[in-house]
Amino acid sequence: MIKLLINMGNVSMSYKTKSGPTKILHDINLNIYKDEFVAITGPSGAGKTTLLNLIGLLEKPSGGSYHFMGQPVSSLSGFKLGLIRNRHIGFVFQDFELINDLTIFKNVELPLIYGGISHRQRIQKVTRVLTKLGLSKHLHYLPVQLSGGQQQRVALARAMVTEPALLICDEPTGNLDCQTAEVILSLLEKLHRQGCALVIVTHDMKVAARAKRIIIMENGMIISTKNIISQEEEK
Ligand SMILES: Nc1ncnc2c1ncn2[C@@H]1O[C@H](COP(=O)(O)OP(=O)(O)O)[C@@H](O)[C@H]1O
Ligand SMILES: [Mg+2]
Repeated sequence: MIKLLINMGNVSMSYKTKSGPTKILHDINLNIYKDEFVAITGPSGAGKTTLLNLIGLLEKPSGGSYHFMGQPVSSLSGFKLGLIRNRHIGFVFQDFELINDLTIFKNVELPLIYGGISHRQRIQKVTRVLTKLGLSKHLHYLPVQLSGGQQQRVALARAMVTEPALLICDEPTGNLDCQTAEVILSLLEKLHRQGCALVIVTHDMKVAARAKRIIIMENGMIISTKNIISQEEEK
């Protein structure tokens, strides 16, 4: 098992805009190991979501080097990146990105269909994860029939169902009341204890404080890193 999941060296990201290319991320140096819980925080527009999209292989960096589980991302095809994402990464988007005309069950089943999991196993896995998240009575509801907190849990279920090595969450408690936020956080911490690496973007310092490492971003750069537990974590 590879311990180093994310290895970024001087990574940059630019977008083409009308006035030419705009650099959004600068010189990102970041290692994330398989047993970590990392929080990324910083003001709106700092580049947090852009960095998550790179970490999660949704986009390729414009510059620098990025290895995911030892593989150089720049040389991988879109198809191969899709396979790696499906196999190893769960992504909880800030606005959930559930498919509105599919039931909750189908939304959570999709990554297993892409992953070639048998019908029988899919039913088991989807039912188990939705039950764990308190949604066993909502399997055949459509996303619009659920509250924001319930949709957030469906998004988490869809990210967890493949048992990824890395779970990435963009503001997982951003739109939730305190109680629902606590339910989601406890679940994430449980996943982390079971060996899943977590990378979470959050504005909420109370949420960030539960991570083992806090990365602060500003203007597309990592401006500081705080290790919450011991030096050992920073191999
Ligand atoms: N696809 C894009 N094209 C051009 N600019 C973008 C794109 N995505 C993000 N940006 C810009 O990059 C900056 C950082 O955005 P983002 O990563 O969403 O920040 P954060 O998540 O920290 O609020 C913002 O100024 C945003 O407008
Ligand atoms: Mg964002």
